[in-house]
Amino acid sequence: MPEPTPTTGTLQKSSVLVTGATGNLGREVVDRLRSQDARVRSLARRRTVARPGVEAMAGDLTDPTVVRAALAGIDTVFLVWPLLDSVPAHDLVKVLAEAAPRVVYLSTAAIDDGAVRQSDPIVQVHADLEALLHGAGLRPLVLRSDTLASNARGWTSQLAAGDVVAGPDIARTAVVDERDVADAAVAALLGSHNAGPVHGPYVLTGPEVLGRADQVDLLGAALRRRLRFEAVPAGLARARMLADGRPEQLVEALISASLHRPQSHRVTDHVERLTGHPAGTFARWAIDHAVEFSHAAEVSRPEDA
Ligand SMILES: NC(=O)c1ccc[n+]([C@@H]2O[C@H](COP(=O)([O-])OP(=O)(O)OC[C@H]3O[C@@H](n4cnc5c(N)ncnc54)[C@H](OP(=O)(O)O)[C@@H]3O)[C@@H](O)[C@H]2O)c1
Repeated sequence: MPEPTPTTGTLQKSSVLVTGATGNLGREVVDRLRSQDARVRSLARRRTVARPGVEAMAGDLTDPTVVRAALAGIDTVFLVWPLLDSVPAHDLVKVLAEAAPRVVYLSTAAIDDGAVRQSDPIVQVHADLEALLHGAGLRPLVLRSDTLASNARGWTSQLAAGDVVAGPDIARTAVVDERDVADAAVAALLGSHNAGPVHGPYVLTGPEVLGRADQVDLLGAALRRRLRFEAVPAGLARARMLADGRPEQLVEALISASLHRPQSHRVTDHVERLTGHPAGTFARWAIDHAVEFSHAAEVSRPEDA
């Protein structure tokens, strides 16, 4: 069981590099670090509009020159690895080891520590990254996140067009609100985990185990619409995703996750240990984000307005 990390107060102003900073999770992390007065540098490939107190860098995590520049003057890194291949991470980890910042790595709760190979390529990449970071002596604080609630944003266009979410099903897990993961990440980033022993990674889950159909039901309740999830068999799902123009490597990884990832009934209190508050429900997430789905529906059906 991991030991709790102090969540309040920073002895000195931290300089934090946030990777994946424009993503669903990363932008929540940036917002929270700013509100806690940390110095923040953000990194993503696409340049973003400047925000007060955030130094935005555009560049690729796989480019060692970019990463070296991004690490200058930084004492702590929030690291995500959004790629489907861990080979390019060798260079990244080499540069990290030279700079030796504190590293908080966002991994996945689907890792099976007893397995020689993980269930699917996405989980395998995270297991590889954890091993690389440990192997380089970086002593990362690992946050293994369960499925992020924000993945539901991927349903926006389908829900703008109708009441059915169709796609490959995936095993049930304790879906976690990305705002809770961001709170936990910031507690870890601004804490002092290197000062004490950490007996294993934190596993960040939501409070209840949900399947996709459950999530669609809860989203429907928030939107006051009768929504339905339709599980699409792997072959058809693959063909549709490829026809939509999704990269083949991504499609294969998603299909593999759908077919092979085991369900998890694990619900932990690690969000609360790190943040001081319990993890929120998917129902709450759906209510708080309903407007994003309603707005998309209005935009796609302007004649109804
Ligand atoms: N979604 C889940 O259920 C889940 C569960 C466990 C762990 N995770 C981990 O959490 C991470 C963040 O999730 P998310 O939902 O916030 O992802 P997301 O919304 O897709 O955001 C990905 C971020 O990474 C940046 N990025 C992608 N490729 C990059 C590259 N080669 N170099 C530099 N930046 C790059 C993206 O910006 P640009 O495209 O502009 O570069 C964006 O800022 C995932 O990558 C995954 O590793 C996710």
